[in-house]
Amino acid sequence: MIRQVLVLNGPNLGRLGVREPEIYGSVSLDDLAELCRSTGRKLGLSVDVRQTDDESELIGWVHEAADARTPVVLNPAAFTHYSYALRDALAMRTAPLVEVHISNPAARESFRHTSVVAAVADGTVAGFGLVSYQLALQAIAALAAEAEPARAPGPQLEPEPGGAAR
Ligand code: DQA
Repeated sequence: MIRQVLVLNGPNLGRLGVREPEIYGSVSLDDLAELCRSTGRKLGLSVDVRQTDDESELIGWVHEAADARTPVVLNPAAFTHYSYALRDALAMRTAPLVEVHISNPAARESFRHTSVVAAVADGTVAGFGLVSYQLALQAIAALAAEAEPARAPGPQLEPEPGGAAR
């Protein structure tokens, strides 16, 4: 079964490739999107990559994911550090959520050390460049597989007359 996954990116990530390349690398958002889609294909995931600079649009996508029970990989970018509105939207999630960062915010300025999103995510992958997204998609695939009901239930033991099933 192919599972849909949303990879959502917040503000300034549309500028990947030209934005502080010493921190975020020289790869564009289009390249990142292609990497996510090809990684997803190998994992049996159909990946839809989106980016916005608009908090309201991002929250709308989070609502859409909650309504459709779609797992989400999210790089909230600067919203990570202060958007309670995004955090509250994510708290309504109905499927796995992995927070992702290209850089390692814990090793940067102190304002980046707080994530208001982390507590409502299944986990966070940070500091591995674009590999962070690949690891996050692997985590989503594993979480989704765990959540799936067993495919073919094995034979059920019939209770013996007058006794317990072995
Ligand atoms: C980021 C880290 C954030 O602190 C920053 O505001 C970003 C990108 C990352 O991917 O490393 O925009 O989320």
